[in-house]
Amino acid sequence: MTSAKASDQTYRVAVIGAGRPRSQTGATGFGMSHAHAKGYTATGRCRLVAVADVVADNATAFAHVHGDAETVTFTDYHEMLASARPEVVSICTWPHLHAEMVIACAQAGVRAIHCEKPMAPTWGEARRMAEACATSGTQLTFNHQRRFEAPYRTARGLVRAGAIGDLVQVELACSNLFDWGTHWFDMLFFYVGETPASWVIAQTDTQTLTSAFAVDMENQGIALVGFESGVRGFMTTGDTVPDGAPRADNSQPRREALGAMQRLVGTAGVIEVGVRGTYNAKVRILNGDAPGWQEPPLAGADHFEDAIGAGVADLIACLDNGHEPELSVHKAIRGTELIFASYESSRTHSRITLPLTGVEGNPLHEIIASR
Ligand SMILES: NC(=O)c1ccc[n+]([C@@H]2O[C@H](COP(=O)([O-])OP(=O)(O)OC[C@H]3O[C@@H](n4cnc5c(N)ncnc54)[C@H](O)[C@@H]3O)[C@@H](O)[C@H]2O)c1
Repeated sequence: MTSAKASDQTYRVAVIGAGRPRSQTGATGFGMSHAHAKGYTATGRCRLVAVADVVADNATAFAHVHGDAETVTFTDYHEMLASARPEVVSICTWPHLHAEMVIACAQAGVRAIHCEKPMAPTWGEARRMAEACATSGTQLTFNHQRRFEAPYRTARGLVRAGAIGDLVQVELACSNLFDWGTHWFDMLFFYVGETPASWVIAQTDTQTLTSAFAVDMENQGIALVGFESGVRGFMTTGDTVPDGAPRADNSQPRREALGAMQRLVGTAGVIEVGVRGTYNAKVRILNGDAPGWQEPPLAGADHFEDAIGAGVADLIACLDNGHEPELSVHKAIRGTELIFASYESSRTHSRITLPLTGVEGNPLHEIIASR
């Protein structure tokens, strides 16, 4: 009898947090689980053996779409871990549940955990998840799937090819430093070549609050990040329309109103990414190679579900070959550190030297509580 090669192995997959049936998903309640499941199915190497959701109907509907006759549903994820013994688990619940679920999976002997972003509402929980998986030898990834999306990969490819000379500054705009910010802070490392950050200085406005997935966030914020390489990362959030007028009511901009959501400034040119509004290009570059702005062909996943699928395919491949996944916890936690270092900078009115120490909770929530 010959043993199966690692690449022939079929992995037993479970999902925690099924989301509502796809037809009912919306504003919050994205049902991210469905995209994860499609990714596992697409590998041809995975079988959905179990689904856990406190809402039994969600689990049943999910199993019906993505599972088979033997897929078992649970309302208690602890029972699921003990009974179904999955090798791979996707955690698609809201952020306040991520830490307890990741740690329980690691302690139950799960080999790979793929958890939705943001890592957790507090810095302590984020660190404990990483530590638990380091202790158990579990491969832990977070779904910062934008690393696989075509506009960002194209822009990074241009930077790597020297199309704008040496990278000097990365400017990012989004709605907040936490829920969306986790993607953009992660992407800072993606653009600068995964080199370490040294310090953060930031400010937040909490006169009014926004909230996503039950976590309160600033109404508006800025963060400047210094990298060891000398590159600067500059993030603006909230009413931060790069090529538009600030709104008098200080409210969140509609996404369509954003100008360039990312601008990469080099010694010999500029790249803009995620450009909306007055011109219809996702990426454009201005350098000395051609007159005016040029729009390069895009390479990478062109839909967010495809990008999530690419992340899932990568984490399954890494289970076989032992390589670090593109969405590894080692990468995710550096971006997460920038979130909480930004909030700590705002709380203490000072520049924060990394690594971030002396912080366990969420400094922004301390600011809010002290008002
Ligand atoms: N990667 C991205 O770009 C992206 C986009 C949107 C949302 N998200 C993230 O995805 C996560 C999930 O968001 P969503 O909108 O898909 O969620 P959702 O509300 O669609 O689904 C969450 C599910 O978890 C279930 N649940 C709640 N408590 C549970 C428990 N104790 N045990 C088991 N199941 C439980 C709920 O019943 C629900 O079915 C969030 O962290 C969010 O930030 C990521």
